Amino acid sequence: MIYFDNAATSWPKPAAVCAALSDYFGDAGGNPGRSGHRMSVAAARTVENAREALAGLFHAPDPSRIVFTQNATHALNLALYGLLRPGDHVVTTSVEHNSVMRPLRHLETLGVELTVVACSPDGMIDLSRLRRALRPGTRLLVSTHGSNVVGTLTPVGDLAALAREHGILFLVDAAQTAGAVPIDVQEMGMDLLAFSGHKGLLGPTGTGGLYIREGVVLAPLLRGGTGSDSAHQIQPDFLPDAHESGTLNVAGIAGLGAGVRFLLEIGVEAVQTHERKLVAQFLAGAAEISGITLYGPKDAALQCGVVSFNVADAMPSEVGLILDQSFGIMARPGLHCAPSAHRTLGTFPAGTVRFSFGWFNTPDEVDAALEALREIAVWATKAVAVSERGYP
Ligand code: ALA
Repeated sequence: MIYFDNAATSWPKPAAVCAALSDYFGDAGGNPGRSGHRMSVAAARTVENAREALAGLFHAPDPSRIVFTQNATHALNLALYGLLRPGDHVVTTSVEHNSVMRPLRHLETLGVELTVVACSPDGMIDLSRLRRALRPGTRLLVSTHGSNVVGTLTPVGDLAALAREHGILFLVDAAQTAGAVPIDVQEMGMDLLAFSGHKGLLGPTGTGGLYIREGVVLAPLLRGGTGSDSAHQIQPDFLPDAHESGTLNVAGIAGLGAGVRFLLEIGVEAVQTHERKLVAQFLAGAAEISGITLYGPKDAALQCGVVSFNVADAMPSEVGLILDQSFGIMARPGLHCAPSAHRTLGTFPAGTVRFSFGWFNTPDEVDAALEALREIAVWATKAVAVSERGYP
């Protein structure tokens, strides 16, 4: 079995992540911040350890500026709805995931003005086009750090400089890059960084978070109990409590903390180097297979561990099924919740087949996948109607 769907959620998780969940339920199963008894204190320590590990990973100066959410989508919604008001102008790119596009399209109906800057068909942003989209009244620039469809990396430092020059806030969607590409929120000039906990950070599903730079104020998405300031019926305005109402996913956060500590030990640079090698190996091998069309930059230095392709005129869903059922290879075919990105690539509405590599994948697995694609390409290029093709 070969798991190439790490952009959807990473698998396997390090043993320490599984152990952290079990330890939480076994030893520290209290509710953090809700009491002074030992299990509540132990749970609070678990949460704060994870927050500190994340601050270390992203070079955030103050761990309390990292708030936990259910996932990257939740973090992006918190940033967008917490910041934007009718009359504000927001600029984004055409390769965003629906976790950015859907809230922005909804905010548009509430009076927020939106400009979507078209990227090139390989997913690259054109900085001069982006600069032309900024205007007085632009409040926010939102961009993915790495495309979830083709892996194209955004030059976030250049975008941050542009935002700073125009006095605009900069929100980065790091769902695909956190834990897989080095991130330094200070050096890269990020005001807000939304991240997933269960992809590159190797934690369990149901975890994610938002880094909020000191001085950036967001209205909460949720209001409720925080375990702090309990005498008052008004939501606390200090972080992280302002954005952490209700009992946290402590077990998930325990696992996330273990995932981040695992990464701090091996180093995100090592993960990036490993994934780049796998991407380069795949791109070189796939380019030799007649019938395969590759999308994106086709250059491992310009992308994260995500590649997209099609096989002749076969439907991506059909190829995904064959990969799984005949070769035990798990991929994600279709539109990847990113219709705008697929329109940009010219692959809408059928989409592509996506492989997304992780720390635990190996060069042998890439070779096995290339061998499978060679066979599938022979089948797919046979001059018979799709309905008449059997596989194999
Ligand atoms: N956003 C995730 C993906 O691209 C789920 O697969």
